Amino acid sequence: MKEKLLKEFESRFGTTPAFYASAGRINLIGEHTDYNGGFVFPGAIDKVIMAAIAANDTDKVRVFSVDINEYVEFGLNEEDAPEQSWARYIFGVCREILKRGGTVKGFDAVFAGNVPLGAGLSSSAALESCFAFALNDMFNNNSIDKFELARIGQSTEHNYCGVNCGIMDQFASVMGQKGKLMRLDCRSMEFEYFPFNPEDYELVLLDSVVKHELKDSPYNKRRQSCERVAKRLGMETLRDADMDMLNAIKTDITAEDYFRAKFVIEEKDRVLAVCDALNRGDYETVGEKMYETHAGLSKDYEVSCEELDYLNDIAKECGVTGSRIMGGGFGGCTINLVKKDQRDAFVKTACEKFEAKYGHAPKVYPVVISDGAHKEA
Ligand code: GLA
Repeated sequence: MKEKLLKEFESRFGTTPAFYASAGRINLIGEHTDYNGGFVFPGAIDKVIMAAIAANDTDKVRVFSVDINEYVEFGLNEEDAPEQSWARYIFGVCREILKRGGTVKGFDAVFAGNVPLGAGLSSSAALESCFAFALNDMFNNNSIDKFELARIGQSTEHNYCGVNCGIMDQFASVMGQKGKLMRLDCRSMEFEYFPFNPEDYELVLLDSVVKHELKDSPYNKRRQSCERVAKRLGMETLRDADMDMLNAIKTDITAEDYFRAKFVIEEKDRVLAVCDALNRGDYETVGEKMYETHAGLSKDYEVSCEELDYLNDIAKECGVTGSRIMGGGFGGCTINLVKKDQRDAFVKTACEKFEAKYGHAPKVYPVVISDGAHKEA
C-alpha cells in the first residue's frame, strides 16, 4: 500500500511525503454503551487507512482518494466544507483541530485503505484518526493528547457527518495496541489494556455484506431514546440506571424507549461479567454473554437484520462459543468466538448456508489485534 501511495503522491504533487496509518476496530462486547456512559471492550485490527502527506505552503488542502479515485481541494475555513462525504471527514478533522486552538496549514495527501467500508469495522474512525494523528505530528509537535485526537474524530462525526456517535471507534483506532483489547469506561475515560490471546479460541468476523450506513440511520434515534429515559430518571446518562429504576417509570415512557434502555442497562453489566470471565479464562461465559448481546441488539434495541440473525443462528447450530452483531448494527459483521478446531467447519457451513439463502457468501475476516494510529517508519 505504501509503494502505491508514494507513486501516486509523487506523480501528483512532486514532493516527498511522510506516511501515517490508523486502524479499524473490533469490539468484543459493550455495544451502544459508549454514548450511555458505559463500558466498551474494543481493540484495533490489522486493517488500516494509510495516508502519504506533506505540507504544501499554501492555505489549501489537496487530497486524492486512491480507492474512490477522486481528487478534492478545499480551504480551511468553515465555508470551504467539501461536498464529498469522504472529504468531509478530513475537512472536519482540520476544523476540529483549529477550533481547539491547534494549527493546521495547507497540505497534500493521498490515501487508501483496506478496512472494508460499511462493514461495522469503523473505516471512518480510521480515516479521522489517521489524519488527526498526522496533523498533530506535522503541525502541532504532538501537543494534542491522544484522547483529544479521538474526540476530534468523534466531533467530526457529530458536526460534519451527521452521526451522533460515541467515543469507542476513534478511541480504539487511536489507542489500539498489538495483541491487546481495551476496557474503556466511557464516563471517566479510564481504561485498561487486556492481553487477548486465548490458546484454544479465535475471533472470526463474518461480513453479511449488508451495507451499514449510520448516517440518516436510526442510530441517532436510538441515542435519543436513551437520552429521554435518562432524563426521565433525572440522570445524565443510563450509566447509573438499573432495572428496578427503569421498571418504576415503565408506564411513563413508551414501550420502545423502555426496551432500548433495558438493553443498555443489561449490556453494561455484561461487559463487566465478560471481564471477570476473561480473568478466569472462562471463555464459555464470554460466549454466552455474546449471544445475550445479540439477542438484546436484535429484539430490544432492534439494530439487527435478517442476514445477521441468520448468521447468529448458524453459529449457534454449529456450537460456536459466542456470536453477535458487532458495531452499530443495521448490517455489517457478526463477531464469533470459536474454538480453533471448530473454526474451519463453522466457516464452511456458514458460507454454504448463507449463500444458499442469499445468493452470496459472507466475507470472512480473521481478527488480528494490532496497533492503532502511528507514523510509518
Ligand atoms: C458505532 C458508533 C460507536 C458505538 C457503536 C455501537 O460504531 O460509532 O460510537 O456507539 O456504533 O456500539
